[in-house]
Amino acid sequence: MWFITSSALLYTYFLSPLASLPNAGILAPVSRLLWEFPAEYRGRITLDLPKLHRALGPLIRIGPNQVSFYSLEIYKAVHGPISLFFKDSRVYSQFVQDGHPALFSITKVPALTEMMLRQIDKWINCLAILDAKGPLNLGLVCRALESDILSTFAFGDAIGGIDSLETGEELAIYVNFQDLTGLWHLAAALIFRFSGWELSSVISSQRFDNWANAQLVAMKDSEKGSGLSFLKVMAGARMPEQTALSEAKEMLGPGTDTTSATLAHILYALSLNQIFRADLVTDLEASDWPTDMSALEAIPRLVAAVKEGIRWTGAAAAMLPRIVPRGGQLLAGKHLPEGTMISSSPIWYLRDEIAFPNPELYRPSRWLDPGKNEATSLRDEYYIPFSRGASTCIGNHFAYLELFLSLSQVLKRYSIHPGDQSTVTGPSHEAVLPSRREWVAAVPVHRLKVTPRERH
Ligand code: HEM
Repeated sequence: MWFITSSALLYTYFLSPLASLPNAGILAPVSRLLWEFPAEYRGRITLDLPKLHRALGPLIRIGPNQVSFYSLEIYKAVHGPISLFFKDSRVYSQFVQDGHPALFSITKVPALTEMMLRQIDKWINCLAILDAKGPLNLGLVCRALESDILSTFAFGDAIGGIDSLETGEELAIYVNFQDLTGLWHLAAALIFRFSGWELSSVISSQRFDNWANAQLVAMKDSEKGSGLSFLKVMAGARMPEQTALSEAKEMLGPGTDTTSATLAHILYALSLNQIFRADLVTDLEASDWPTDMSALEAIPRLVAAVKEGIRWTGAAAAMLPRIVPRGGQLLAGKHLPEGTMISSSPIWYLRDEIAFPNPELYRPSRWLDPGKNEATSLRDEYYIPFSRGASTCIGNHFAYLELFLSLSQVLKRYSIHPGDQSTVTGPSHEAVLPSRREWVAAVPVHRLKVTPRERH
């Protein structure tokens, strides 16, 4: 036993092909979990790793067979359109492979805009009622909107996020930490067996499952079934209906937390920068508050506000795991053997200090320079919030449409003011990225609050 353990340690620390790489922690060659857990638990792993990279170089060993990289050149090689690096299926669990094109072609139809506008309108009316109770907690209210939009898209019916805002109930969906949630449910089931004590989070998760099953039944009933939805498209594409159902459930995660965090951050930043907000309102008014995607895209200040919001929020913080293909690869002068798992977070590149000077500031003017020069080329190259290549985010256009519509419609009805005036230095105050924890998605440590006032 002693001999086996010491041979394994000798191999991993000194003889492994990754032994020449700097280690993220002393225990990294033994187990990723051992060194990572304290930082991961606090949501700090993607915040701390870029600092380590600055000190140790573009490649760092983060597990016996795992490497973190931080270099746009490597990113392009790994996530390029014809890259041989493939997704680590242990993490991705073969998410919706064949259905993408058919499904996302529906994002082109005006029906999607109409559906979004219906939810946005309801949400905007709800904000007036909530505001009477004090400044709005943006994280909560934006998540309610996005979960209703995404669930209508996925299932054909809203999950009740906006309704739950009025009652103050916890929304019955779990979108992050699938594995942790699974473990938690296992533990909760045991607690229930031995004590009879049922945990509220488990109840709401079960409620979500029941709700999703009911949507499937309604979909099959042509009388009650709603028009277009992800579930319908998938089930109609010869996919077993339970598979279609689980794909529709999975859709809610990547779509809801990312877009809602981005909208919340943009509204927070605009509340602090009254001059930019007023200019944006003037532009939207001059264009007669359009709702058509091409008209929205033609308003440079709106595009700048949203693009900068997506960059600044960096909502999708996860490091995206890829497997080194057959024969191994030479990266940054090091040979990585086939089968090594390598990963990097797209949001690290959104914080690059040369491509985006003062990256922690919300500065939409970065995007208002239409010229092609060294600075704008660098800026565009490093803007990879949706990742890139073959497995780029399929909700990219959906997210833009949703953000253009929700931001412009809320500004049409309200002027947005800071929930806390004390931090504001002047009418064109540039918001600093609120401190956060980063797991799969980024979560602000404190509540982002604004006070909306009706515009007349
Ligand atoms: C600001 C908003 C968003 C950002 C920043 C974002 C970012 C990302 C990123 C970085 C990935 C990972 C790509 C990879 O694994 O290589 C991803 C995957 C994905 N996104 Fe998005 N996304 C956003 C909105 C959306 C929306 C609105 C939807 C749905 C309508 C969506 C659906 C998906 C799906 C289905 C995946 C694939 C997940 C998987 O392979 O397991 N995303 N997104």
